[in-house]
Amino acid sequence: MRFFSSLSLSSCASCSCSSRRGLTSSSSSFTSSSTCSRRRQNRRRRRRRTNEKNAKTTTTLISNDAKENNDNNDNDNGNNNNNNNSSSNRRKEPDAIVSVKLDQDGQRDYPIYIGSELVKERGDLLRKHIKGETVLIVTNETVAPLYLEKVKESLLLSSSSKSLRIESVVLPDGEEHKNLDVLDLIFEKALDARLDRKTTFIALGGGVIGDMTGFAASAYQRGVNFIQIPTTVMAMVDSSVGGKTGVNHKKGKNMIGAFYQPQCVFVDIDSLDSLPEREYNSGIAEVIKYGLIRDAKFFDWIEQNADKLQKKAIDRKSLVYAIQRSCENKAEVVELDEKESGLNVRATLNLGHTFGHAIETGVGYGEYLHGEAVSIGTAMAADLSFRLGWIDENLQTRTVDLLKRFDLPIEVPRGSMTKEKFMDLMAVDKKASQGKMNFILLKGDLGGCVFTGDFDQTKLRETLESFVDGRISR
Ligand SMILES: NC(=O)c1ccc[n+]([C@@H]2O[C@H](COP(=O)([O-])OP(=O)(O)OC[C@H]3O[C@@H](n4cnc5c(N)ncnc54)[C@H](O)[C@@H]3O)[C@@H](O)[C@H]2O)c1
Ligand SMILES: [Zn+2]
Repeated sequence: MRFFSSLSLSSCASCSCSSRRGLTSSSSSFTSSSTCSRRRQNRRRRRRRTNEKNAKTTTTLISNDAKENNDNNDNDNGNNNNNNNSSSNRRKEPDAIVSVKLDQDGQRDYPIYIGSELVKERGDLLRKHIKGETVLIVTNETVAPLYLEKVKESLLLSSSSKSLRIESVVLPDGEEHKNLDVLDLIFEKALDARLDRKTTFIALGGGVIGDMTGFAASAYQRGVNFIQIPTTVMAMVDSSVGGKTGVNHKKGKNMIGAFYQPQCVFVDIDSLDSLPEREYNSGIAEVIKYGLIRDAKFFDWIEQNADKLQKKAIDRKSLVYAIQRSCENKAEVVELDEKESGLNVRATLNLGHTFGHAIETGVGYGEYLHGEAVSIGTAMAADLSFRLGWIDENLQTRTVDLLKRFDLPIEVPRGSMTKEKFMDLMAVDKKASQGKMNFILLKGDLGGCVFTGDFDQTKLRETLESFVDGRISR
């Protein structure tokens, strides 16, 4: 059953919501439940009025989201039917729901719920995506004291009608622990707790926890369900969506993994309150990326609303919109090219990453956060695109300026990298194939990009020289 109403994303005169114009690619089968918040408020008001007039028809009393909830109770890929809709009038609804559509039959489609107070108020939404009676929450030592009990409580409150056994495992924090040894702690816990094939794994944390939990879920008893509760901007806008899971190997980052999609993604923006500003800004680098590679209107919107997206003065509505639009973009890309096939559509998500990964490795892991390295890489990609004559100076300047507004680095620290080091490291990057180094470069108007290795290589050397000297061209 398709459970999202399909709303076309036309631009809204009354606010700055984005339209689908500016998207360089989309699929006709893609539908999105998103709409601008003002329209949604109006819709809610109308529904409330209907509700007051006609208290008998339950489905008209509740919002689309809650209706979707209801609908799913009938046919939910085996999910439980534990919702108590009697309290639906008082329920906090997600501010947005983005649908990730993968197959014609919709079997693997999943929603991304985005909003405030979701963990506190909407354990039932999580519960309905839990197949069996057992759950394993995977988190880390930083996130556990902040949110583990809250998630447990929320789930238990929502499942009063049925018992739910909740187990948890707390992993060490950090990219350096994203490896097979630490992954084994998840399997050990699951086996010790005798969790069966109907268990659902829940990832509670940033991208590291999400990637590891998803990979563990793909392999445990040949595959169990899993749910993402991302708690960093990076995870909310990127890593929790799209099904790339895995761990690092000592011979390469993210080299062991699987494509494995979650049952749902549950984005509660309140969890960002505790996120350090630097981590927050690191995630914004990926938000900006979506605008650059495929969504000009979104880029314009970020420029106009950058003040409202600052960690110190977050405007929650703007933040929800930024996450929503990022997830929509990611969902569209994933729908077009789920497994990064020869189409190279999914590869475009790696704007700035070839340079960025070289910086992460070359300068030393831990020196830069992922989004920070991507930010420098994006500035380098814009520089190279400009040198090739593929974009105008204005776009290059706008790119760098927007990154700077979020305190993101746009220069390689002097003395930390050489041109040769860059070349060596980029040659082993996953984007290098058949001896040729491929890059995602900006081309044409804002929102356009290409994945290519066919360009004048002297320009690449000029970009590298310019950046390793600690100066940028604009
Ligand atoms: N699967 C994908 O498609 C994909 C895409 C992008 C990135 N990634 C992966 O994601 C990882 C990076 O993710 P990340 O940036 O979220 O890093 P992370 O998971 O290491 O989280 C960053 C830090 O923030 C802490 N933290 C998380 N949530 C918090 C909160 N709410 N309050 C306070 N602290 C909190 C974490 O414990 C950690 O110390 C990398 O391993 C990268 O490879 C995967
Ligand atoms: Zn990234």
